[in-house]
Amino acid sequence: MSMVIRPLTADDALALQKLRQAAHEDLTLGTPQEREHGLAMHRIQETLVKPFRTIGAWAGSSTLIGAATVSPVPKDPWDTDGDAWVGLSSVIVAPPYRGQGVARGLVQACIDDAADCGFVGMLLEVNELNPAARHLYDSFGFTVWSGPSLFYEVEGDPFYRVSMKKMLATGPAANHPIDEGA
Ligand SMILES: CC(C)(COP(=O)(O)OP(=O)(O)OC[C@H]1O[C@@H](n2cnc3c(N)ncnc32)[C@H](O)[C@@H]1OP(=O)(O)O)[C@@H](O)C(=O)NCCC(=O)NCCS
Repeated sequence: MSMVIRPLTADDALALQKLRQAAHEDLTLGTPQEREHGLAMHRIQETLVKPFRTIGAWAGSSTLIGAATVSPVPKDPWDTDGDAWVGLSSVIVAPPYRGQGVARGLVQACIDDAADCGFVGMLLEVNELNPAARHLYDSFGFTVWSGPSLFYEVEGDPFYRVSMKKMLATGPAANHPIDEGA
């Protein structure tokens, strides 16, 4: 399959909403409120402009088959070393295109982009019972630094999440406080 990976722009908002709808019923992706929030057009538009960056994968010129969003992590007021981290979220591939390396290409593009922008590390949260996502992040060298902890319940079923991190650069950042619990 020929695939083009590029940052999305405001013009891609509808395509991104349609893509997210494809994963809307997946309960491992968050609380019902979070999933609704992720589909709201105003929220989608926010993720297409700075300081967010959403990278998309296209099959041909007009079919958005996957996307992932990178956003700066708000600075901890106690963090005096000046390191800047980013969060990776909303990694979604349309069901018919899964298992073909689309997410791998997207995550690699997000990592490269964040490293080019000078961010020292990437954080994410993933449901413990999401083997595809866990395998993907493990294979990129993300490691668990917190959890699993109960994040939410849907109709009595518990969902546990882990927080993962990956350093994007070496040097002083390796001593960042977030490493202490790893
Ligand atoms: C998770 C998701 C993004 C993976 O997308 P994808 O394009 O199918 O993933 P890729 O084809 O790039 O595969 C990446 C790796 O995961 C592995 N993988 C894919 N599906 C898997 C599964 N069901 N179980 C275990 N591993 C799986 C692949 O084998 C591949 O590893 P490999 O290169 O070592 O063989 C996709 O399943 C999805 O959109 N799920 C719903 C949304 C979601 O859960 N997002 C993550 C939120 S944190």
